[in-house]
Amino acid sequence: MESENKVSREQGDINQGKSRIKYWKRNFDSEAEKWFEEDKKYFFHQALSTPVLNILSRTDGIYIYDMTGKKYIDMHGNGVHNAGFSNPEVIEAVKKQLDEKLCFTPRRFSNVPAIKFAEKLAEITPPGLEKSLFCPGGSEAIEMSITLAKQVTGNFRTISFWDSFHGAGYQAASVGGEEHFKGGYGPMVPGAFKVEFPNYYRNPWGFKTEEEVDSECLRQMEIIFKREPGVAAVLGEPISATPVVPSRDYWVRVRDMAHKYGALLIFDEIIEGFGRTGKMFACEHFVTPDILVLGKSFGGGLVPFAGIVARGEYDIFSGRSIGHYTHEKNPLCSAAGLAEIEYLEKHALVENAAEIGEYTIERFNSLKERHPMIGNVAGVGCHIGIDLVKNPVTKERAVDEAEAVMYKCMEKGLAFKIIESNIITLRPSLLITKDEMEWCISTIEEAIGEVEKGSYY
Ligand SMILES: Cc1ncc(COP(=O)(O)O)c(C=O)c1O
Repeated sequence: MESENKVSREQGDINQGKSRIKYWKRNFDSEAEKWFEEDKKYFFHQALSTPVLNILSRTDGIYIYDMTGKKYIDMHGNGVHNAGFSNPEVIEAVKKQLDEKLCFTPRRFSNVPAIKFAEKLAEITPPGLEKSLFCPGGSEAIEMSITLAKQVTGNFRTISFWDSFHGAGYQAASVGGEEHFKGGYGPMVPGAFKVEFPNYYRNPWGFKTEEEVDSECLRQMEIIFKREPGVAAVLGEPISATPVVPSRDYWVRVRDMAHKYGALLIFDEIIEGFGRTGKMFACEHFVTPDILVLGKSFGGGLVPFAGIVARGEYDIFSGRSIGHYTHEKNPLCSAAGLAEIEYLEKHALVENAAEIGEYTIERFNSLKERHPMIGNVAGVGCHIGIDLVKNPVTKERAVDEAEAVMYKCMEKGLAFKIIESNIITLRPSLLITKDEMEWCISTIEEAIGEVEKGSYY
C-alpha cells in the first residue's frame, strides 16, 4: 500500500510535506484552523485536494480571500475565472433566471436560455462547428466527444498524449497520460494509445529545431495509425497545460494525418477556451478541430457546466443518446454561460489576455538574463509557464526551489499552481490589468531572487 500512496509530483504542487505544514502554521487563525480540521474530517483525503491549502471566505474578480481577510491574486482559479470570480453580470443573469422560476427543464423539454447559449456557441466557434451537447462537467464532455467520434467513425481506438489530463471519468482518465489519476484502477478503456507532445524546450532527443521535434512526434503517431488501424480520434489540448505551444504546422499535419486514416481531431479546450490564449478559442491559433470540448468558464465561474461543439454533419444519431445528462439543457447554467461570453465580448477581455500575455512573457524572458533559475518561459495569452531549473544547461528541474517560490508568493498575496513539479503556471482572470500583472511579476522575481541566494521557505 505504501508505494501506491506515495505522492507523485507529476501533476502539481503536493498537499503534504514540510513547507505545506509551515504555511499552515504561519497563515491560519483559530477560525481557519477549526474549518481546516473539519474539512479534513469529512472529506476523503486525496493528493491535490484534501488536506486543502487554505479555507476561502470570498472570491471576487481576480482575487480570492482567506478567512483572515487576506486577499490573493489567483493565477489558477481552476480555469473558471476568465471573466472574474463572482462576476456581477453573470450573477445578475442567474438571479434573473431564478426569479423567472425557470431553473430546470425536465428531459424532452427545452428552454430559451439553453437554445440561445447553443446558438451563441455556434456563432463564436470557428465555421463548421455548429451543433452542441451540454453536460455538468469537463470530464463528461470529454466522454461525449470520444463517444461521438466512435459513433461517427465506427472505430474505437484513440490517440492522446502522455502527461495530459482530460478528467476523472473512466474514458477521460483512459485518454489522460498521467499515472496519478489512474494508478490502481485496473485495466483502462482498450485501445487508448499515447504519444509524446512536441516539447521544444524539453525534447528527449536533443533536437534543435521545431521541425525535427514535430517530425519525430508525428512519426510515432503514424506508427499507431498504421499498426493499430481503426482509430476514432486524436485527442489533445491544442496547447498543453504546462504550457507547451506547438507549431501551427504540427497541428496541420496531425489533422491531415487523422483525416487520412479516417479519424477525427478532438481539441480539449476546457482550460484554453473563452479567451485564455488571446483568441476566443485556442484552435484559432492552429486548425479547426472536428469536435471542440469546452468547460470550466462555460458555467460563468458560478455553476458547473461543460459541453462539446462539433461539425453539423455528425448530427446523424437520432436513434442513440450520446450525452444523456439530467442537466443537459439546464437554463440556469446556460444563462450563466451566455452572460460570461457577453461579458468577455463587451469588455474586450480576449484582447486584454493577448496584450497582458505578450507583456508578461516579454518581461519574464528579459528576467532570464538576471535569474539563471528561469530556464524557459512559454505560453500565449494569459496561459503562461515559467520552467525553473537548477542549471540552465542541464535543465534539471528546480523542484524544492519552485515550491519555496510558491509559498513565498502565497504569503505576499499571490496564488498559483506548480505543474510537473517545477513549472510555475500563470493563468489569471482575463480581467487582470497591466499594473496588477506587473506586481505579480515583481513578486515572483523577488521570491526567485531570494531562493537563488539560498533563502528557501
Ligand atoms: C484540460 C482539462 N480537461 C478536462 C478536465 C476535466 O474537467 P472537470 O474537472 O470539469 O471534469 C480538466 C479539469 O481540470 C482539464 O484541465
